[in-house]
Amino acid sequence: MIITVTLNAAIDKSLSVPSFRLGRRHRTVEQTTMAGGKGVNVARTLKTLNQPVIATGFAGGPTGTRIVEQLTEESILNDFVRIREDSRTNTAVYDPTNGEQTEINERGPAVTSKEVELFRDKLLYLARGADIVVMAGSLPRGVDSDYYARLIRDLKRMDVLTVVDTDGEPLRQAVRAEPDVISPNVLEAEELVGHEFNDDEDRAIAVREMIQLGAREALMTMPDGCIASSIEAGERQLSRVWIEPREAVAAVGSGDAFLAGYVSARYQRQSMEQCLRFAVACGAESTKRLGAGLIEPRELDRVVAETAIERLVAPIEVS
Ligand SMILES: Nc1ncnc2c1ncn2[C@@H]1O[C@H](COP(=O)(O)OP(=O)(O)OP(=O)(O)O)[C@@H](O)[C@H]1O
Ligand SMILES: [Mg+2]
Repeated sequence: MIITVTLNAAIDKSLSVPSFRLGRRHRTVEQTTMAGGKGVNVARTLKTLNQPVIATGFAGGPTGTRIVEQLTEESILNDFVRIREDSRTNTAVYDPTNGEQTEINERGPAVTSKEVELFRDKLLYLARGADIVVMAGSLPRGVDSDYYARLIRDLKRMDVLTVVDTDGEPLRQAVRAEPDVISPNVLEAEELVGHEFNDDEDRAIAVREMIQLGAREALMTMPDGCIASSIEAGERQLSRVWIEPREAVAAVGSGDAFLAGYVSARYQRQSMEQCLRFAVACGAESTKRLGAGLIEPRELDRVVAETAIERLVAPIEVS
């Protein structure tokens, strides 16, 4: 079983608005509303890929009720801690005439210390039946920045594979707790290692730095693939995966589809190379659809075949 954690779950509203201009009145030509937040998106893609997954996190007020209802409608198993304050609604406006996307994310609810404790109990209970726990997205107000780090330490004692996709201080602290996998995009990685990258060499160095900071494996995503430091059969490998960038319909959430693809392949004990190719293929496939975490599984074999992988340095043994 795979568990996804979404502490700042949301209702995601995606609007397609041609020739979007600030200060004007518009009509949408296409509109979708779905349960969202990074962990929820990962759960949706995992469900589509036919993997056993339970989505957990916080859900509050009428918006929280809608989140749970929408997940249930999609047959995504879920078990959220109900909180008093209302969960947030995030709005993304996509302009098909120029491909630009504007996002407005609400601040979201504050969580009480009692709710935070309830969640820890629930997660540790659910994790007893889990192989992988994916923690993805930002922390709501009222949750300390070391919360993911604490959960990672708890989960590692239970022999669960811990995967983290977040940014800023929560990521910095999480990495110190030595999670199994992190998957920042370039901006998040630059913030984590504390300098900017100009080329693939800089990016490869950064991936190594993330390992030195504590992550066991690090996947850094970019629109044309990823650079990964991963471990297979006791050997650490540094690899670069490529795909021809698409003209995205909606690039938001491609990182979530990437991560779901990776976790899905990993859950099926596929080779490191297969996991990375499949992740990049899922990320690329998701950019063709409005709405986070949406992929068409029948397309994936073809997209995987479009990926290329290169080992950047000779593998080294790890303990
Ligand atoms: N335009 C694109 N064409 C093809 N693949 C893409 C494109 N954009 C993203 N991807 C795929 O999706 C993966 C994740 O992309 P990216 O680094 O943009 O994620 P992200 O910034 O974390 O996105 P989000 O947080 O919104 O989900 C990449 O590794 C790549 O495989
Ligand atoms: Mg991301």
